[in-house]
Amino acid sequence: MTFSLRIQKIYSLCEGPFIWDICCDHSLIAILNLKENRFQKVYCVDKSFQSLEKTKKHLAEIKLSTHSHRKDLISEKIEIQCIDGTLLDWEKINGSVIIAGVGSHTCLKIIKSCPEYKRTELTWILNPFNYLDLFRTEIKKLFSETVSLEEHNVQENSRERVIFKLSHPQYKQSKTDKALLFQCD
Ligand SMILES: C[S@@+](CC[C@H](N)C(=O)[O-])C[C@H]1O[C@@H](n2cnc3c(N)ncnc32)[C@H](O)[C@@H]1O
Repeated sequence: MTFSLRIQKIYSLCEGPFIWDICCDHSLIAILNLKENRFQKVYCVDKSFQSLEKTKKHLAEIKLSTHSHRKDLISEKIEIQCIDGTLLDWEKINGSVIIAGVGSHTCLKIIKSCPEYKRTELTWILNPFNYLDLFRTEIKKLFSETVSLEEHNVQENSRERVIFKLSHPQYKQSKTDKALLFQCD
């Protein structure tokens, strides 16, 4: 399996111990984490049942080619939730929240569903695919001035993509063991 530069960059910007990949589609971030093992768990959230079925199928294939004592670890490192991102219980969420590969309006709608006080506790990795100027204006309204904002540019299929990272400067990064856990190809 190959991971695009965009997916790798998104993963590299995350801070732990957990990742919530909202609008995950086929959950590439969670599969990359099985290989890199930087995070305790990736929660894969998508409103599409079909997308998550593909993830489950893929995980079953990885399990088949994995030593038996490690199969349980795969289940521990991934949790799949079929739900609209605007309906999440934000109290239960911590670590990094990824919203990538959707339009700005969807991305902003999901951020707005998170209570304001909770937004500053999370690291946000956002990669909307359209209306970037509007997006820049709107996220400044949604986050306090103490939150740091970075922009990272990556090329994907000859298109320029912008990844926004919002995080609180006091947030301490916590990493799990870096050992390679599973072969994903
Ligand atoms: C193009 S895929 C993006 C996949 C991956 N995040 C990426 O960056 O490549 C968009 C996914 O967003 C999901 N999606 C769109 N709106 C959503 C929402 N409100 N809540 C949860 N998932 C949503 C769709 O079902 C689809 O699987």
